[in-house]
Amino acid sequence: MPRKKTIKTVVSPKKTEEKPKKPIQLLRGMKDTLPEIQDVWDYVRNEVEGLAQDYSYSRIDTPVLEETNLFTRSVGENTDIVEKEMFSFIDKGGDHVSLRPEGTAGIARAYIEHGMLNQPQPVRLYYWGPFFRYDRPQAGRYRQFHQFGFEAIGDAQPIIDAQLIVMCFSLYRKIGLPVIIQINSVGCKNCRKEYEQLLIDYLTPRKKFLCEDCKRRMQKNSLRILDCKNPECRELIQDAPQLVDHLDEECKNHFVKVLEYLDETEVAYNLNPYLVRGLDYYTKTTFEIYLEGKENDSQAVLGGGGRYDDLIELLGGRPTPACGFASGIERLALSIREKEIIVPTAPKPDVFIAQLGESAKKKALKLVEELRQKKMKVSCNFSKDGLKNQLSLASRLGVKFSLILGQKEILDRTVLIRDMESGSQEVVDFNRVYDELKKKIEKIQPIIQNNHRIGG
Ligand code: HAM
Repeated sequence: MPRKKTIKTVVSPKKTEEKPKKPIQLLRGMKDTLPEIQDVWDYVRNEVEGLAQDYSYSRIDTPVLEETNLFTRSVGENTDIVEKEMFSFIDKGGDHVSLRPEGTAGIARAYIEHGMLNQPQPVRLYYWGPFFRYDRPQAGRYRQFHQFGFEAIGDAQPIIDAQLIVMCFSLYRKIGLPVIIQINSVGCKNCRKEYEQLLIDYLTPRKKFLCEDCKRRMQKNSLRILDCKNPECRELIQDAPQLVDHLDEECKNHFVKVLEYLDETEVAYNLNPYLVRGLDYYTKTTFEIYLEGKENDSQAVLGGGGRYDDLIELLGGRPTPACGFASGIERLALSIREKEIIVPTAPKPDVFIAQLGESAKKKALKLVEELRQKKMKVSCNFSKDGLKNQLSLASRLGVKFSLILGQKEILDRTVLIRDMESGSQEVVDFNRVYDELKKKIEKIQPIIQNNHRIGG
């Protein structure tokens, strides 16, 4: 018998099969601050806010985007920040704008723009927020990072400098980080001009030993050569004339006074004649904060600041002395993790509500809201249906009590209160849930509130 011919149908693959889309990733140098690290940030934020309150500093928030000229004029045209690190662009209206690389310039602008000169001086301001520098990313150095900062505007006295240093030193101490301050004076524009000539006279015959960056700096920003990290430049600088030896009378007296005040306090500091900092607006005092034992690691600088007596005038205001500092929050968070500092954790929920079945789900949705309005911290997970799953989630959250609502409870108008530690359960009338729960929570409250965990 002839066999039936079977016709094979060949399914041809789709011609234009779509490639799976590549997931979009973070931009280089950017960082997500994930929920796991938020309690470390909250810890720092609380301490910063406490410090601001103690010393009467008011919060200010300025925009992240400003006219580029603001930074060119204040931070300085020939600084690394302005030359290489700004995120600058022309906006749709044709304006040259930049993401702020630091906070002092914006605050000086706001001080002038809002006539803060007419308020009692000094005007004390503090801030917390994101900043942007298009730098080579590495540990502790990001393209978007966060700073908090304190600025005291309108007082020329050296005690202001000393107090700001005391404030940041004690803040780090309180957080649990042993720090050391490095301090210097860069004088005013008059003594600096004379000194710069001396420095150039010293460096010119030795120019060939300088790195390419410093050769360029000799023309435009010779002071920055003092804190170049290149070993050959550092060696050369060891024998160069020192700026502190060439301060005029007023700048010298100011510096001596700042040190005298600091000697009255617990602040641990070292004189560093090479500390000029990377921003042009500084006059007189400059300082940086280092973790003890990491004094030579420039990537580990936790914060820095100084006096900037010419800045407000440079930006179009009346001559107004000022002083301040800022700290990097990511670096602080890294140090808290490295040192395994115990930070307070977010408070745990008071109760978990577990439900079984559609009508229990409806009831639970309402109960969550009712308890929350009575100031209870409630947790639940409507994506999970099984009781076992829900209770194991409650255990993982560290909740002391769970409320269980099933078909039976809905019919009886009751709820089961389960003690998560002992496993014992109690049936209570639906209308008595809040009172019964409150009683149980109050009994163990002092134990629940003492939650802490190791940073990071
Ligand atoms: P600054 O030294 O340029 O000073 O920055 C202060 C701190 O911000 C640094 O010590 C560091 O902890 C952190 N920081 C800077 N750049 C980065 C980065 N790319 N990634 C992570 N952290 C970074 C100022 O900004 C001045 N406005 C401080 C000041 C306030 N002076 C007077 N008042």
